[in-house]
Amino acid sequence: MITFSDHKEFDPGLLLPLFAQAPWAQGRTAADTRLMLAHTDLIITAWDGPRLVGCGRVLTDYVYRASIWDVIVDVAYQGRDIGTQIIQHILGHPSLHRVELFWLCTRDKQAFYETLGFSAKEQTGMVWNRSKHQSATIPTGLSRPDPERMDDHTQAGGL
Ligand SMILES: CC(C)(COP(=O)(O)OP(=O)(O)OC[C@H]1O[C@@H](n2cnc3c(N)ncnc32)[C@H](O)[C@@H]1OP(=O)(O)O)[C@@H](O)C(=O)NCCC(=O)NCCS
Repeated sequence: MITFSDHKEFDPGLLLPLFAQAPWAQGRTAADTRLMLAHTDLIITAWDGPRLVGCGRVLTDYVYRASIWDVIVDVAYQGRDIGTQIIQHILGHPSLHRVELFWLCTRDKQAFYETLGFSAKEQTGMVWNRSKHQSATIPTGLSRPDPERMDDHTQAGGL
């Protein structure tokens, strides 16, 4: 029986065999995957006993936007409704009930996502790929609001 979970307390290394099956996730390491998992807002995993057979994860502000990443079902388990249920668990998750718009990108799985209500009509995405911009200069010297002055402002404004 396949079970689904939203717990993050599992060995991140179990994701590596799934990543190895996805073209965009080749070469991901255990250390980076651990960091990724720690900073992921929601991950839905599918399990066949102790075996991790599917995943899908979300980055979100919990109000306006959520993006869905790394939806992968082990090839030995595809076509058994697992991918569909992962997306349904994401869209119906209580922690995301206020989210206005879910966004994802896909090269060739439009048919799969359209059955789940996603639309490809609004093609507005652009990407900035770090590996193609090795010489990009990163601005330094960002300033941060002075907390003491913010306190003054808050008091003066009487908010
Ligand atoms: C896409 C993927 C997650 C679907 O998971 P799955 O568990 O096999 O899908 P389901 O069994 O829930 O299928 C649901 C429906 O989508 C259809 N579908 C599944 N994979 C599809 C594909 N590659 N292209 C078009 N339709 C697809 C199924 O036929 C099914 O339709 P039906 O109910 O009318 O028969 C899975 O094929 C996968 O992991 N692929 C490799 C990684 C990938 O490309 N992920 C998507 C990243 S955007």
